[in-house]
Amino acid sequence: KRTVLTGITTTGTPHLGNYVGAIKPAIESSRNSGVQSYYFLADYHALVKNDSPDRMVQSTLEIAATWLALGLDTRNAVFYRQSDIPEILELTWILTCSTAKGLMNRAHAYKAAVQANLDQGEDADHAVMMGLFCYPVLMAADILMFGTHEVPVGRDQVQHLEMARDIAARFNHHYGELFTLPEAVVDDHVAVLPGQDGRKMSKSYNNTIPLWLPEKKLRKAIMKIVTNSLEPGEPKDPDDSALFLIYAAFADSAQREAMRQAYRDGIAWGEAKQQTFELINAELSEARERYMDLIARPADIEAELKAGAEKAREWARPFLDRVRDAVGLRSLG
Ligand code: TYM
Repeated sequence: KRTVLTGITTTGTPHLGNYVGAIKPAIESSRNSGVQSYYFLADYHALVKNDSPDRMVQSTLEIAATWLALGLDTRNAVFYRQSDIPEILELTWILTCSTAKGLMNRAHAYKAAVQANLDQGEDADHAVMMGLFCYPVLMAADILMFGTHEVPVGRDQVQHLEMARDIAARFNHHYGELFTLPEAVVDDHVAVLPGQDGRKMSKSYNNTIPLWLPEKKLRKAIMKIVTNSLEPGEPKDPDDSALFLIYAAFADSAQREAMRQAYRDGIAWGEAKQQTFELINAELSEARERYMDLIARPADIEAELKAGAEKAREWARPFLDRVRDAVGLRSLG
């Protein structure tokens, strides 16, 4: 069986970008009987952002309810909270010891933090936490722990996947072939979903459309997506339109081509937005009801996560023992 694994950081409310970039393809692949899937809530990663403890708890609940509402079948997929698997942290340390600092220096997120400091006349590493710096090693541990072959992610995570491969290859070279080299799987149609302002949809840009907005608010949020000032009847360029990309991420290929033609034929922006709303709403409305129901039953969600953690640890404990053994630590047995 091929192992597919992915995680979502538990900061804030899940948005359309998380859905099309990660959750939807992940749930689809979990239905394939030739696949063993591991999906998790990356709360150790969320800690890097130093959010408030209450928001962390709330976000974990929302993201867990999201996966379940969208139809993740936890009999096939192992679904867990990262911090319920302490073996991941131990593997992180072992990997940290054979990971070059120079590799981490190249990480986009770290470099962006340094650049922001320099732009503001601060020291390069002002307020940069070790958690941010070591983030890619933790992510490598998530992935390498489970012998992962494929990691469905958005384009923004591809560098992290390359780093996980480098870290694995270096370890294998020193200590023997323990780790599988993982690959990123990025869906071409939805590589990066733009947000309302046309930049990548991201919590850090404040341009997200939350996944579970009630219908009226969802419509309003879609009406706010930026468009240019072309009038109805004037031909529009779908390839230069955030609205089109968002539509395309939810459309099948026939719908996508029909909308492409409608842009060239000069569809009014208001009409294009209305159709985008209808398409997205149709895809989400049933799951939204399940979500509302689930989020009111946190104990049930907790029970799912606990059961998932046990399954994950059944694999992680003996695997970590092999790693301990390989590096010359006593295996715990
Ligand atoms: P995170 O929580 O930022 O995002 C979760 C997933 O959503 C994707 N994504 C998007 N895809 C398309 N368009 C967008 N606008 C968009 N915004 C977010 C992300 O690419 C990601 O797939 N470091 C990871 C979490 C993580 C992880 C892992 C992932 C921790 N360990 C191991 C895979 C494997 C992160 O912060 O994702």
